[in-house]
Amino acid sequence: MKTPYEILGEDGVQNLCNAFYEIMDEEETVKVLRAMHAADLEPMKTKLFEYLSGWMGGPQLYSQHYGTVCMTTPHKPYRIGPKERDQWLLCMDKALERIGASSKLKTMLKDPMFRVADAVKNHHCSEHTPKNDNLIATG
Ligand code: HEM
Repeated sequence: MKTPYEILGEDGVQNLCNAFYEIMDEEETVKVLRAMHAADLEPMKTKLFEYLSGWMGGPQLYSQHYGTVCMTTPHKPYRIGPKERDQWLLCMDKALERIGASSKLKTMLKDPMFRVADAVKNHHCSEHTPKNDNLIATG
C-alpha cells in the first residue's frame, strides 16, 4: 500500500500545508485558532510541511531540523481544547478538499489525523470558565 507521501508527492504535501494556512487565514469559523498564531503564517507553512513529510511516510525533515517529532512541547504555551482541535481539523479537511485529494486518501488520513490533533490537545475545555470565588461563602 502506498504511503500518503507517495500518493501526494513532495509538491502535494507542500500544497496541502500552504492551503491549510490559507484556509486558517480566510475561514470565519476558525477565528480562535487563527488568533493563536503569529501574523505571518509563512514560516508555519514550512514547519508543517517538514512535520507532515515525515508523518506521511516521506523524509523526516522536521526531526532532522529540530531533533524531535514531539508536538507537545511547541504547543505547551497555547490552550488547546476540543474547540481549537476541531478548528484545526476543519482547516485540514478543507485543505485536503482544496488540493483535490481523493476520497481514498481522505479516508486513510481521517483517524490518524484526529489522533495526532487530539494528542496536541492539552485542556479538556476550550475556554476558562470564570471561577465563583464566593461559592463556599454564599453556600
Ligand atoms: C489541535 C490543534 C492545534 C492548534 C490549536 C495548534 C496551534 C499551534 C500554534 C499556535 C503554533 C505556534 C505558531 C506560531 O509560532 O505562530 C503551532 C505550531 C506548530 N504546530 Fe500546531 N496546533 C495544533 C495542532 C497541530 C498538529 C496536529 C500538528 C501536526 C500534525 C501541528 C503542527 C505544528 C508545528 C509543526 C508547529 C511548529 C512547531 C515549531 O515551532 O517547531 N499542530 N501550532
